[in-house]
Amino acid sequence: MSDKTPRLRAELDGVPTYKPGKPAAAGGPVAYKLSSNENPYPPLPGVMEQVTAAAGAFNRYPDMACTALMNELSERFGVPLSHLATGTGSVGVAQQLLQATSGPGDEVIYAWRSFEAYPIITRISGAEPVQVPLTAGEVHDLDAMADAITDRTRLIFVCNPNNPTGTVVRRAELERFLDRVPSDVLVVLDEAYREFIRDPEVPDGIEIYRDRPNVCVLRTFSKAYGLAGLRVGFAVAHEPVAAALRKTAVPFGVSQLAQDAAVASLRAEDELLGRVGSLVGERTRVVEGLREQGWTVPETQANFVWLRLGERTVDFAAACEKAGVVVRPFAGEGMRASIGEPEANDIFLKTAEAFRKEL
Ligand SMILES: Cc1ncc(COP(=O)(O)O)c(C=O)c1O
Repeated sequence: MSDKTPRLRAELDGVPTYKPGKPAAAGGPVAYKLSSNENPYPPLPGVMEQVTAAAGAFNRYPDMACTALMNELSERFGVPLSHLATGTGSVGVAQQLLQATSGPGDEVIYAWRSFEAYPIITRISGAEPVQVPLTAGEVHDLDAMADAITDRTRLIFVCNPNNPTGTVVRRAELERFLDRVPSDVLVVLDEAYREFIRDPEVPDGIEIYRDRPNVCVLRTFSKAYGLAGLRVGFAVAHEPVAAALRKTAVPFGVSQLAQDAAVASLRAEDELLGRVGSLVGERTRVVEGLREQGWTVPETQANFVWLRLGERTVDFAAACEKAGVVVRPFAGEGMRASIGEPEANDIFLKTAEAFRKEL
């Protein structure tokens, strides 16, 4: 047998591994998972019914064109079918955007810290990540991001609200930034948490994209719509970007279960957005509670909160886990806790309070 191993692309050597949020420990007295920004509500009965019905036919491939879902999205968001593309979660669509735009020798700009998939999918494409630090207030530094554009820039992610800080960029600053981006550079507005925004100054990316052919909006069914486990997201973009997304899609990537659940969720939007409203209420309670305890909490418009804990991050996460809630630590930087069930949020607040007193 030869001692040679298959040759792999050198770019993979620098690819960090995606770290999923830790699951809640099994067997403990209570264990809540606040580590992946999931929706804590169980699936709606009507959505379950659709998924159960679709499950009876999973010996067949799904509808590759996602026809029913595309039609529903087109109507719901008032965009032509040719401007839509679906994928295996919005992270799947983001990876397709990189495949479509970027390769070795190219640069991809994003804020840092931001969604941890960005460096991974950028490196996999072969392009060079250009990470622009957040401001001291944990917000995208759009001026610095515009300054970082070079002839090699192909794509820029703007994560709004930003994961993991929850902070937002507002209409005027985003428009100013977009005016500075050359028209042959794609700007991806990642709006995974759009439905949780209550700040009226934060623009809807789908309004922004309409007269900007180099803007692509990413949305997902994983968060507000509660379909994280089914893997379905979508992009809204002008031709030829949307067409490129349809070319780069994994054939049959979005299962029929996911497609049918997404359609049923759009039809049950009022109920689902009611749940989002309750989560936003809980968010206010958690943020105010933390601030009363003396923590500095950046203004969050997402379904999570961020505490910059520096060296104390890992200890804080361990204290939370011991108390029964699993959060997402970024060692040496800070931790992100999703807004969960009221009982989970209570445990989180109590733990934060006890930790604060010991500082
Ligand atoms: C900013 C952001 N974008 C995209 C995603 C990916 O979501 P999904 O692939 O489940 O649609 C996430 C998930 O955590 C996220 O935080």
